[in-house]
Amino acid sequence: MAKKLNVGIIGYGFMGRTHSNAYNRVTDFFDVPFDPVLKVACGLVEDEVKAFAANWGFESWTTDWHKVIDDKSIDIVDICVPNNVHAEIAIAAAKAGKMIICEKPLAMNAKQARTMVEAVEKAGVANLVSFNYRRVPAVTLAKRLIDEGRLGRIFHYRANFLQDWTISADVPQGGMATWRLDVKAAGSGVTGDLLAHCIDTAMWQNGRITAVNAMTETFIKERKHAETGKVEKVGIDDACTFFCRFENGSLGNFESTRYARGHKALYTFEINGEHASIFWDLHDTQWLMYFDHRDEGRMRGWRKIHVTDHGGDHPYMDHYWVPGLTVGYAETFVNQLADFLTAAAKGEPCSPTFREALETQKVCDAVLESAKSGTWVEVPEE
Ligand SMILES: NC(=O)c1ccc[n+]([C@@H]2O[C@H](COP(=O)([O-])OP(=O)(O)OC[C@H]3O[C@@H](n4cnc5c(N)ncnc54)[C@H](O)[C@@H]3O)[C@@H](O)[C@H]2O)c1
Repeated sequence: MAKKLNVGIIGYGFMGRTHSNAYNRVTDFFDVPFDPVLKVACGLVEDEVKAFAANWGFESWTTDWHKVIDDKSIDIVDICVPNNVHAEIAIAAAKAGKMIICEKPLAMNAKQARTMVEAVEKAGVANLVSFNYRRVPAVTLAKRLIDEGRLGRIFHYRANFLQDWTISADVPQGGMATWRLDVKAAGSGVTGDLLAHCIDTAMWQNGRITAVNAMTETFIKERKHAETGKVEKVGIDDACTFFCRFENGSLGNFESTRYARGHKALYTFEINGEHASIFWDLHDTQWLMYFDHRDEGRMRGWRKIHVTDHGGDHPYMDHYWVPGLTVGYAETFVNQLADFLTAAAKGEPCSPTFREALETQKVCDAVLESAKSGTWVEVPEE
């Protein structure tokens, strides 16, 4: 029988829900070496954390995250709180010898991320940053096709992450639901929130980004702060566009905004290689578009691959229903957890580790610096 692993989740919002769902479902679909037990849920508001704990089947709850760390029975600390609280919790959890899953972006900036990397590496604890889009079966398949060399030399990588929920000037900054608009809680705007996903996927698929040239804009300069009630300057980037160079010689083009009317969460990427191209769209999660110039001329065209096949053809899909039937957003977290538990049992790292997520953080920092200076910024290797 799989060894029980006691889980403490800190944060019961959007990500608290997706992670709790994953812990509850992972053993239903994967033969993992550990059996997670939802031991304690933590969050700021007592009534809410109590209801959350009851809904997802946690044994207990608390409003003080230190209690989760101090609890010797807890094996995994799962960090689902706003970005400004990640470091303190992660470093304390590492010192206490806990395995750690931390939501993205790893930290407020690369300097802070480095302290987190040091903490987990010194403690030798299993660690993972939740860049969950890597575990969309179609995205994992794209990575496999690139690694097999099917695209040949890569020329272009472009990605977009578009939303439209902050266009109204009435949306406040700060507070429970809108901490993302408060630079003190979020660190940055769309760069750390949305582009971090695109950058993580891009570097995983196409290697290191070496230099960036960025442009950001804050369209609404002042917003009421939900906690103070005062109208305050907005410190986040509402939109960000950047060009970059990859170490392999290819060029990158990234755009993110929360001002693209009509788009709720449109994450797309396209990779153009010498022989073939790949395109993926989060709204069509289970499809991967693939064009291969080596196909017979009269039959050449974009293939629309339904990534639902079994027999090891399509990543993760053997664990789910029957060929042709789909999985969605929630399963990216189940897949991620299955990989983490499997790696942890073997004492192996599970990507993206804190160290790998530091690379994304460095690119985010360089993007923001470039937007400020209006010049190209090199991404430091160390
Ligand atoms: N992987 C993804 O696709 C993805 C998607 C959304 C959010 N995120 C990340 O997940 C994290 C949480 O985002 P969210 O959307 O779930 O936020 P949310 O606002 O829905 O929930 C935040 C939770 O944190 C709790 N919290 C805040 N400060 C705390 C403290 N000091 N101690 C204990 N609990 C505290 C709140 O009570 C709340 O339950 C962020 O880092 C965000 O960037 C990742």
